[in-house]
Amino acid sequence: MSILGEYQLGRKIGSGGDGIVVEIIHLQSRQKLACKIIPSKSVKQEEIEIWRDLSGHPNVLGLRNVHRHKGKFYMMTDLCEGGDLCSYLINHANAPLSHQNAACIIKSLMEALQHCHGMGVVHRDVKLDNILLNSQTNFSDIKLGDFGLAAPFSQGELLYHDVGTLQYVAPEVLLWEGYSKEVDIWSAGIVLFCLLTGCFLYDSGDSEDIREQIKTANTQLDIDEDVGIPSQAKDLLKGMLNKNVKERFTTNQILCHPWILENTSRHG
Ligand SMILES: Nc1ncnc2c1ncn2[C@@H]1O[C@H](COP(=O)(O)OP(=O)(O)O)[C@@H](O)[C@H]1O
Ligand SMILES: [Mg+2]
Repeated sequence: MSILGEYQLGRKIGSGGDGIVVEIIHLQSRQKLACKIIPSKSVKQEEIEIWRDLSGHPNVLGLRNVHRHKGKFYMMTDLCEGGDLCSYLINHANAPLSHQNAACIIKSLMEALQHCHGMGVVHRDVKLDNILLNSQTNFSDIKLGDFGLAAPFSQGELLYHDVGTLQYVAPEVLLWEGYSKEVDIWSAGIVLFCLLTGCFLYDSGDSEDIREQIKTANTQLDIDEDVGIPSQAKDLLKGMLNKNVKERFTTNQILCHPWILENTSRHG
């Protein structure tokens, strides 16, 4: 009998380009999990291997089990009851996140990325939709999920494949300069900008326009003009959204940044 018989399928909790995510309940233990169901042809074996290797870190979505059945992959993961950060922001558009909560998210995201990068993996799709909340009250308890675009990298070697989600993509990807793990820091900078302002950095709905803005715009200027951001947070944003890859902040620099330290001191 298929292992799937041990689970009860529940409500749909998400969907993406290739498949859906549903809640499942393990019949014997009554434990709830999430299950990403994708056509087998859309899953790279590499994604599963990378995800398995990274699982176990408190800020990485844990992959529990993978099952192949009738042309589909069933990827069972821990369930994050708080949903994804994008949905959270949309549902709480009238009550922006406090700086303490935003800093807790970025700190935990940096810990997840430090783990991925330390294991030689660049995520390449860091964005609000792929950051999951275990609860809607503890913003340190986030999990980085969706390793569908993750890739191995090695020191001194560059990647060239143009992937990611346009709003979050780093300039070096679009400029075909070759890129590495620093692209995840840029994307995390876009996440931070969204958390602080409730907006995206680019003010256009047209993708060609956004591409041009990413390649040419002086994002420092956009940040300077944004009056609602305190100077320490702006300094962090500028470090994360530095177009010069060599000068872009590292995960360590971000974790030690005064804005992160001050805003997370009472929040673990
Ligand atoms: N473990 C989980 N707990 C809660 N929600 C989840 C979980 N995994 C995925 N989701 C929801 O499903 C959406 C799509 O999942 P994701 O793994 O990002 O797939 P895709 O590759 O299709 O983007 C997420 O943005 C989120 O809303
Ligand atoms: Mg996703």
